[in-house]
Amino acid sequence: MGKSPGNKNWITTDCPPPPLRWETGPIEYHGQAKTKNMKTILITGGAGFIGSHVVRRFVKKYPEYKIVNFDNLTYAGNLANLQDVETEPNYEFVKADITAGELMKTLFRKYRFDGVIHLAAESHVDRSIANPMDFIFTNIIGTVNLLNAAKLIWDEMEGKRFYHISTDEVYGSLGDTGFFFEDTAYDPRSPYSASKASSDHLVRAYHHTYRLPVVISNCSNNYGPFQFPEKLIPLTIHNIRNNKLIPVYGKGENIRDWLYVEDHAAAIDLIFHHAKIGETYNIGGHNEWKNIDLIRLLCKVMDKKLKRPEGTSENLITFVKDRAGHDLRYAINSEKIQNDLGWKPSLQFEEGLEKTVSWYLANEEWMKNVTSGDYQKYYDIQYNKR
Ligand code: NAD
Ligand code: DAU
Repeated sequence: MGKSPGNKNWITTDCPPPPLRWETGPIEYHGQAKTKNMKTILITGGAGFIGSHVVRRFVKKYPEYKIVNFDNLTYAGNLANLQDVETEPNYEFVKADITAGELMKTLFRKYRFDGVIHLAAESHVDRSIANPMDFIFTNIIGTVNLLNAAKLIWDEMEGKRFYHISTDEVYGSLGDTGFFFEDTAYDPRSPYSASKASSDHLVRAYHHTYRLPVVISNCSNNYGPFQFPEKLIPLTIHNIRNNKLIPVYGKGENIRDWLYVEDHAAAIDLIFHHAKIGETYNIGGHNEWKNIDLIRLLCKVMDKKLKRPEGTSENLITFVKDRAGHDLRYAINSEKIQNDLGWKPSLQFEEGLEKTVSWYLANEEWMKNVTSGDYQKYYDIQYNKR
C-alpha cells in the first residue's frame, strides 16, 4: 500500500497530497492488458444530485479511468444532469437497478471494476416516512447486492476499493450544543436514516468478516445545482419563483449544517484515493443554519435576483405541520478529514447560495422538466393535504 503510481492526475488538492493508498497493478480488461493506471470505476446513483457532480468530476479529471454509472433513473435520477459528459470516451451509462442481485453479479463480472463509489439511494426523509419499503430495498438490499458482487470478483483485494457514501443522519439528533464525530454512536430516527445506518453496518461487517476493502463517509446537508426540488433549498427557490407558499415545518427552528455539493465531490475524490482501508470520515460545512433563518436569507437573495421589492418573498413563508420525528439539529466535526487529507470547504455559504440561485434561475427548463408529471402528485400529497 501507499506506492505512488507517479501520475499527476492523482493529485487532488492545492495542499501537498497525503500518501496514496490505492495502489495500481496490471489488470485484465475485456481481454486486453490495461496500462498500469487504467482503472474501471463504478459510480452508482450517478444520475442523481450528488452522483452527477461526482461523475462529472471523475470523468473530466481522470481521463485514464473508465467511469461506469449504474442508475435506475427513479424520479430523482435524470440524465440531463450529465449532458456535458455523456459523450466522453471514458464514460458509460448503464440503466440498472441495484436491488437486482443477480444482475449486479453479471455486470460486475462483465466490467471487472477496480473501485466502487456507491451513492445510489432513496434519499428523501419525507418519502421514507410515507413509504419506508423503497428505502429498505434500495438502501439496504441494494448495498448488500453490491457488496456481494464486489466480493465475488475481487479474489485479490489488493488495489481494490469499495467506497460507501453515507449521511450524518445515522448519528441521530443533537441538542443545542455538540457535534457528530466519527465515533459518535449510531442513533437513526427516521426510516431513511435507519436504512442508511443499516447499510453502513453491513459495509463494515463485510470488511470485518471478508476483508472487503471499504471506506465510508458521512456527510451533512448538500446544496447546489441539480438538486431535486423536494429538498428544502431548491423547493424554496422554485416556490418563490412561482409565487407559491414556502412550507416551513414546525417553527422552523431545526438546524442543518450546509455544504456546497462540489465541496462534497472534492472530499469524495480525496477519500477514494487517499483514505486508509476501513476508515470513516465525517464531512461537513461547519455552517449551521436554523431553517427559518436560511429561508429568510434565500428570500432576500431571490428578491434581489428577481428585482422584486425587498420583503416580497418573505410574505410567502407559511408554517405547516411538522415532519414526524423531526431531528432537531445536525452538526459535523470534520477535523479528521481536514487534518488527515487536507480537505476544507471552498465556499462561504452566501457565495454558494448565490451561485445556486443563479443556476436554478438560468435553468428553468431543467426545473420545468423535473416538476412536471409525478412531482405534482407528490406535492399534493406532501403539502396540499398537510
Ligand atoms: P438523489 O436522490 O438525488 O439521487 C439518488 C440516485 O440514485 C438517483 O439518480 C436515483 O435514480 C438512483 N437510484 C435510486 N434507487 C436506485 C436503484 N434501486 N438502483 C439504481 N439507482 C437507484 O440523492 P443524493 O442527494 O444525490 O444522495 C446521494 C447519496 O448521498 C445517497 O446515498 C445519500 O444518502 C447520500 N447523502 C446525501 C446528502 C444530501 O444532502 N443530499 C447528504 C449526505 C449523504
Ligand atoms: O443531513 C444529510 C441529509 O440531508 C441527507 O442524508 C438527505 O439525503 C437529505 O435529504 C438531507 O435531509 P434533510 O431532511 O435534512 O433535508 P431536507 O431538505 O428534506 O430538509 C431540510 C430541513 O428543512 C429539515 O429540517 C426539514 C425542513 N423542511 C424541509 C422541506 C422539504 C421544511 O421546513 N420544509 C420543507 O418543505
